[in-house]
Amino acid sequence: MPQRKSYLFVCTNQRPDGTPKGSCAARGAMQIQAALKAGLAERGLAKLEARACSASCVDVCWAGPVIAVEPAGHFYGRVTLADVPEILDALVAGTRVERLVLPPADFDEATARPPLPVLPGALKS
Ligand code: FES
Repeated sequence: MPQRKSYLFVCTNQRPDGTPKGSCAARGAMQIQAALKAGLAERGLAKLEARACSASCVDVCWAGPVIAVEPAGHFYGRVTLADVPEILDALVAGTRVERLVLPPADFDEATARPPLPVLPGALKS
C-alpha cells in the first residue's frame, strides 16, 4: 500500500462505564472512525489520499472524540458523527474544519471547554 497524503488518527480508547474521565469511545469515536473510513472509500480517497485509523488515547480525553490529523498536525475535538461529511469535504479541499480544531487551551483540562456527554449505546459493537 502506498503512503497516504493524510492520516486521521481517531482515538477510540475505551474506559469502563462510569469512569470520571470518560473516553472517546464512550462519546461515539468508534462510529466516527467507521464513518470516516466508509466516507473515504465512497469518495475514492482510501487508497491514495487518506486513511482513518483507530488510535489509543492521545491525552486530551476531555475534548473527545478527538482526531489527530497528520501530517497537517492539528487535532479535531468534540467531533460528532454529523461532522464527518464536513471533515471529508475539508480533506478533499485541502482545508480544515476550523470550528473543530482544538485551540491550545483545550490541551489543558483546567482551561478546556466542557466535554461532550457520553452517548448511550456508543460502546456497543
Ligand atoms: S480517551 Fe481519547 S484522548 Fe483520551
